Amino acid sequence: MCGIVGYISKNKKASPILLDAIKKLEYRGYDSVGIATIDDEKIELKKDSGKINEVDKKVNLSDMRGCIGIAHVRWATHGHPNKVNSHPHTDHDNRIAIVHNGIIENHEELKKELIMEGHIFESETDSEIIAHLIEKFISKGFNFQDAMIETVKLIDGSYAIGAILVDCPNKLIAIRNESPLVVGLGNDYNFIASDIPSFLKHTKKVIFPDDNELVIVSSENVTIKDLNGNILDKKIETMAWNEEMAQKEGYDHFMLKEINEESVVVADTLSGRKEIEKIVVDLGSINKICFVACGTSYHGALTGKYLFESFLNISTDVSYSSEFKYLKDVLNENVLTIFVSQSGETADTLSAIKMAKNRSKTLAIVNVLGSSITREADHVIYTKAGPEIAVAATKTYLSQLVSIYLLAIYLSKNRNNKFYENMTSQIEKVPDYINELMLNEDKIKEIANKYKSTTLFFFLGRGFIYPTALEGALKLKEVAYIPAEGYPSGELKHGPLALIDENVAVMVLAPSENSESISTSSYKDTINNMEEVKSRGAQVIAITSYKNGENIDVNDIIQVNNQIDELLSPLVYIVPLQLLSYYISIYKGLDPDKPKNLAKCVTVK
Ligand code: G6P
Repeated sequence: MCGIVGYISKNKKASPILLDAIKKLEYRGYDSVGIATIDDEKIELKKDSGKINEVDKKVNLSDMRGCIGIAHVRWATHGHPNKVNSHPHTDHDNRIAIVHNGIIENHEELKKELIMEGHIFESETDSEIIAHLIEKFISKGFNFQDAMIETVKLIDGSYAIGAILVDCPNKLIAIRNESPLVVGLGNDYNFIASDIPSFLKHTKKVIFPDDNELVIVSSENVTIKDLNGNILDKKIETMAWNEEMAQKEGYDHFMLKEINEESVVVADTLSGRKEIEKIVVDLGSINKICFVACGTSYHGALTGKYLFESFLNISTDVSYSSEFKYLKDVLNENVLTIFVSQSGETADTLSAIKMAKNRSKTLAIVNVLGSSITREADHVIYTKAGPEIAVAATKTYLSQLVSIYLLAIYLSKNRNNKFYENMTSQIEKVPDYINELMLNEDKIKEIANKYKSTTLFFFLGRGFIYPTALEGALKLKEVAYIPAEGYPSGELKHGPLALIDENVAVMVLAPSENSESISTSSYKDTINNMEEVKSRGAQVIAITSYKNGENIDVNDIIQVNNQIDELLSPLVYIVPLQLLSYYISIYKGLDPDKPKNLAKCVTVK
């Protein structure tokens, strides 16, 4: 999705710093790039469609004068990805430049009015109206700050806006509504940005403005006001993340680095158990849980359903965030709605939490400190994954799962359930199981190479491991562009079996039934389903913790430790699936970190 950055300093040239900062936002997914600075009473503007490095080569983005500027990476929503539609946008006289992330829903009517008033538009974007509206209010005699306030009073929709004005060269102004915006505080410089990694190299001190708070930034000061002009006292937070965490550190790709961090991430998230135990005290009266999430986070939530229903006897629904508003309203004070989101900014999840709060207890499981979703929730569990840069989620998925397991463990403790005793010690072993699996990397590479040209994959799992099958299929689609479907093992024969032949690969997830907590006969049933696809010619790959797994008659097998409790298998089996997708992507010559058309943080509905 689009990303914005603004920078102002006393005497440092803004453009190289802005260029470096938008490179850190590349991971959000984009198709165009641009920078505007002010120098010598003029706006200097360079922008075009294409990758940052390509555009930089063409127009030399770091060679722009001025110590104040704004920059943008665009993920097209309104208007094609081309030079004219790229941000920053300016008014007709080039006195104002703006960058925008979000969607202005009433842009068409506003544009019509502005055209009637004589404004000339260049682009097809919804964003350009912002520059024209500011121009209109400045020409009516409003100062910069009041022109911004009048502008946002007229626009509906989601936005994070950064604006600069030639007549006010010592100030940049930003404002947000339902789109991410953070302020980075330096010594004689300051930043505004969509995301923290963009300025992490320069400062760890941040302020999180709320919706419709005006952020006025000079090189020395940041002032935040409400729309009536009252100065607000905002908390300054210090990020625990550091710049190295957002670097590749010798790995070829962020995705591979992030998979390699998973055992540490699991251990770190487990270390947050006390915070989760405290939250659970406040959840005593709940008798229903509704999970709400998108993408990979949805699969984490679905795993939660199996846990909560099996072990806590709590009826649990799972809803895609974008569908939540269409479902029957079952919320009341005894319902806990849990919002799972890596970024804490996904637009659909944010709308859903706004709808659920005050009508149910709300809990957010989020990786990014201070993000919008965390500010709406009654309780927040921060997953401790550190910054995740690759578009496809890997380590944050593991940290979400661990948080959900801890939540189930402590809820069960409060309900005197046996699950607590069994799982508390078992889950501690997960980092070791993951480390052990990483030793199988060569085997996974070999399988990736063998199946890289396969045109259709199925991922099968039963019970607790079924959501992992969905997540394995999603990873393969995202980074290797191979059609892949996750299915409950028993469901394949109700339709998709018609697609099975020798050109299809089927990944079977078969944890053995060694759990002290459950008895499901899932292994036996899964093996029977595997036979059904084998007998129709499919190429079968199995991941199993079954003791004699090597004796299963399949084309390829990944053996995992047979001590792993079936219940914990989702925390381990996903790792080889992530690695498999990564290596297939590499062998196909793709860039797994930046899949086409996808964005890390989806801030539009
Ligand atoms: C996008 C990302 C996915 C992510 C999903 C939900 O589609 O590409 O990797 O799972 O958004 O994001 P969230 O930040 O809410 O977990």
